[in-house]
Amino acid sequence: MEAEGLPLVESLGLRRDEPSRIAPPAPCVTFSGSRHGIDIHLVCNGKCAVHGVDNVGTVPAALTTYLALQALRPDLVVSVGTAGGFAARGAKIGDVFVATGFANHDRRIPLPGFDKYGVWACGAHPVPNLQKALKLKEGVVSSGNSLDYCQQDWDQMVASSAAIKEMEAAGIAWAAALHGTPLLALKAVTDIVDGDRPAQDEFLENLAAAARALQETVPPALEFVAGKTLAEL
Ligand code: ADE
Repeated sequence: MEAEGLPLVESLGLRRDEPSRIAPPAPCVTFSGSRHGIDIHLVCNGKCAVHGVDNVGTVPAALTTYLALQALRPDLVVSVGTAGGFAARGAKIGDVFVATGFANHDRRIPLPGFDKYGVWACGAHPVPNLQKALKLKEGVVSSGNSLDYCQQDWDQMVASSAAIKEMEAAGIAWAAALHGTPLLALKAVTDIVDGDRPAQDEFLENLAAAARALQETVPPALEFVAGKTLAEL
């Protein structure tokens, strides 16, 4: 969402690309700049032409990532955004987690082979030095296309040992894997999934604080990554 991206545009000193580096009809909005000797492109999904709100969910995330990988050929993709966190896995409002793996929790296909395909679980590239340097919490990021969840979503999140619930990373992981491009994910917690309040109430209350947490974490994370090999992260 732009509410998550625009504070980072400011703190990273990026400029909006006019025209977007991703051509229409894709509605993606791109921002570019350089810092610490690396080129940085921040790519947002853009707005839905029908409903006027930000495009969210795994479908826009996968499309945007695929097109951004083709247009920009980056060495690394970083999925940055807000998320729900599991208190049982140590999450508190405003924490930033780094992903140890990705999975889907709302793709139920009980057919041989397709059951695992639906979940599409995969590990994230380990980043122990980055995690220590920035004192980040870590855990599995599970993605689905609803802000709330049903019992089957819950069961799959538990089966995946999810610490974080959001709506994009698994789609991004799939598109990044097609291109063979490594992916990191940094997710700031707006709401507690295993708490007692509706996600939408906590999300709206804590969105600005979580965006600030990303503003404090993402620039130093990029500085840490700059000039290092994947193995050094
Ligand atoms: N983004 C922020 N909180 C979320 C939640 N609980 N589920 C999905 N996406 C989110």
